[in-house]
Order: sequence, then structure tokens, then C-alpha cells
Amino acid sequence: MTRIGLLDSGLGLLGTADALFNLAPDADLVLAMDPDFTPYGSLSTEALEQRALHSAGVLAEWEPDAIVIACNTASVQALEAVRTRYEPTIPVIGTVPAVKMAAGTGQDFAIWATPATTGSAYQQNLIDAFAADRHVAKVACPGLAEAINVADLPKIDRAIEDAFAQMGPGLESVVLGCTHYGLIADRIMAARAGALTLFDSPMPVAKQTLRRIGLEPAGIGDDQPGTGRVLATYASGRRVGLPASLAAYPAGKRLLARESHDGTADRR
Ligand code: DGL
Repeated sequence: MTRIGLLDSGLGLLGTADALFNLAPDADLVLAMDPDFTPYGSLSTEALEQRALHSAGVLAEWEPDAIVIACNTASVQALEAVRTRYEPTIPVIGTVPAVKMAAGTGQDFAIWATPATTGSAYQQNLIDAFAADRHVAKVACPGLAEAINVADLPKIDRAIEDAFAQMGPGLESVVLGCTHYGLIADRIMAARAGALTLFDSPMPVAKQTLRRIGLEPAGIGDDQPGTGRVLATYASGRRVGLPASLAAYPAGKRLLARESHDGTADRR
């Protein structure tokens, strides 16, 4: 039985969890969110490392086949620390902004991300490596991930408009450099009447995860049946149910339908 652990500050892990269920409908997932330390976008590197190691520790107790850091902010600052602790016993897969993919189109583009990711050397290195000859607008979106966690739609729409204002005219491609933002891809597209290309990471990260554990991805399709369940969800180390705000997002609804209500779910 395949078991995969995912960590993020909050609902950003939804998209990757949904992609994993899509590609591996029989895999079980364990989720670690960290509401006591949200947003990750405003934590120092040291604090982020500690929080990522804490959540990875909670997941490791389930002896997962892999741990996915379903968060750009934690990946760019803490992936190495988590890998050093758990690999090679448990493969650790990170999430980084899809700069290479966007640069491959030959267009200029923007990267929307948390203030921490936007200011990181890691993101700048990605731009230098793959998009040095492009105009890349670095757009920090303070408050957007938090608004998404509580499904505050007016605040989400204001943050989207702020991001477009920072981005300036003429750019038609946006890299979603925070895993939360994919949950509102429909609202971002609607704000520009669909005249936008978005580059997001859940599918590539899910595929990479399955590759690392030697699983063949199943065909892609919504709502595939399967035995895979969300075995357990944690909030800063406490065992909880999936948050109700999930229901505001299509991926969240699919995840709620897969929540195991068997409180005795075994850790193997
Ligand atoms: N979901 C996270 C990311 O991908 C961070 C959100 C936060 O700031 O807590 O960057």
C-alpha cells in the first residue's frame, strides 16, 4: 500500500494532494498543516526550517513512502534540511516555482509568490538560470495565502487586483509560485477574462513524487474512483479533521470525499 505525506502551512497542499489522487487513486495520504505558524511567507529561514522539520517528523511517524513539501516557501528555504534528516530512508520531494516551464514558452512573465519566496536567492537563481533573457516581474502577494486558508473571497479578489497592479501591463503569463494560489486559478483567470496563461506545480510535483517511489502514474481524469484515503490530518502537530474551508474549492471537495473517518487508522 502506498502512503505519501504532504506538508504545507495550510491549504496549499490541497492541489498536490488532489493531483496525487488523480495519478495514484489507490495511494493513501497523510497531511500536515501548520496553522500556528501561518503564513510561512513571513517566517525567517531558521524558523521555516524548524517548522518544516517538525511537520516532516509528524509525517515520518506514519512511515510514508515519500514526503512532499507542498509549499514553495518551505521548499526554497528548508528542502535541504528535510532531505538531510530523512533521505535516503524517505524520499523528500520539494516544490519550486515553475520558472523553467514558463521560460520555455519564450514569453516574458510574472511570478506571484509569498514575500519570502519573492525575496529568496533560490527564486532569483531560477530566473538567472532559465529566464536571464526575459523580463520577469517578481510579484509578492502578502495576505493572499492567509485569505485563501479562510476562503475570504473579497480579500482574495483584492489581493488578485493588487498583484495585477504590481505586475504592470503587457504580461500574459503568470507562474503561481505559492501552492495556495492554484486553488483560486479560476478567479485569477476570470479577473483577466481568461486572457492569461498560468503555470502551476501540483501535477509536475505529483509526477515527480510517483517517479521517486517507482509508481506508474494512472491516466489523468477527474474524480477517479480508488481506494486512496486521507488517513490523517494534522494542525501544527495536533490530529484534526480536514478544515471546513476546503469546501470552497473544487480540489477541497474532492479531498473531503476521501477523508477517512476511521479514527483508528493505523500508522503501519
Ligand atoms: N503555500 C505556501 C507556498 O507555496 C506558503 C503560504 C504561506 O505563506 O503560508 O509558498
